[in-house]
Amino acid sequence: MSKKMLNPLDSHLTRVLYSREQIQKRVSDLGREITEDYMDKDLVLVGILRGAMVFLSDLSRAIAVPHSWDMCGASSYGGTTSSSGHVQITKDVEVDLRDKDVIVVEDIYDSGRTLRAICDLLRVHQPRSIEVCTLLYKEKAKRVSEVAVKYVGFYMPDEFIVGYGLDYNEYYRNLDCIGVLDPKIYS
Ligand code: IMP
Ligand code: MG
Repeated sequence: MSKKMLNPLDSHLTRVLYSREQIQKRVSDLGREITEDYMDKDLVLVGILRGAMVFLSDLSRAIAVPHSWDMCGASSYGGTTSSSGHVQITKDVEVDLRDKDVIVVEDIYDSGRTLRAICDLLRVHQPRSIEVCTLLYKEKAKRVSEVAVKYVGFYMPDEFIVGYGLDYNEYYRNLDCIGVLDPKIYS
């Protein structure tokens, strides 16, 4: 990784998949939908570290019902562009989830391993309900675990993307668009 300033349209991306404006519009639509569905509920958003941090902070501010949020941690990639097949839980939640209505907030639904492991973890805390909201849904991914996803930002092709929280080797999370990473960066 060179130390030069990152510009989303520079040679690191082959193309922009979703612009900052497209993401903002979709996140505010999701916020409105969740607001309507959770009017009479006791909502807690649980984001998955670290990729969902940017999405969680925007989504929370697009939701108009009172709610709290927390983060839990899972790690499966470890500096590559394909899942290692093993999900390690790196952080449990600290907010009390008993009898709460939880929405798990994830950056991307790929093999499904991470969401499966996190939903299993959260169920132990005995929430009243658990739903999943993912910003991105890889439609043709090699799915290992099917998880019911209620809220989806964008259905996308099976490509390796970065930006808006998503990383390659911990970089590119700060891009405000989502783009396809040039394979020459990782090959
Ligand atoms: P899964 O467990 O295979 O569903 O992978 C989910 C996790 O892998 C996500 O939380 C992301 O952090 C990461 N991931 C999956 N696809 C991509 C991608 O295209 N770019 C960056 N990270 C990804
Ligand atoms: Mg990641």
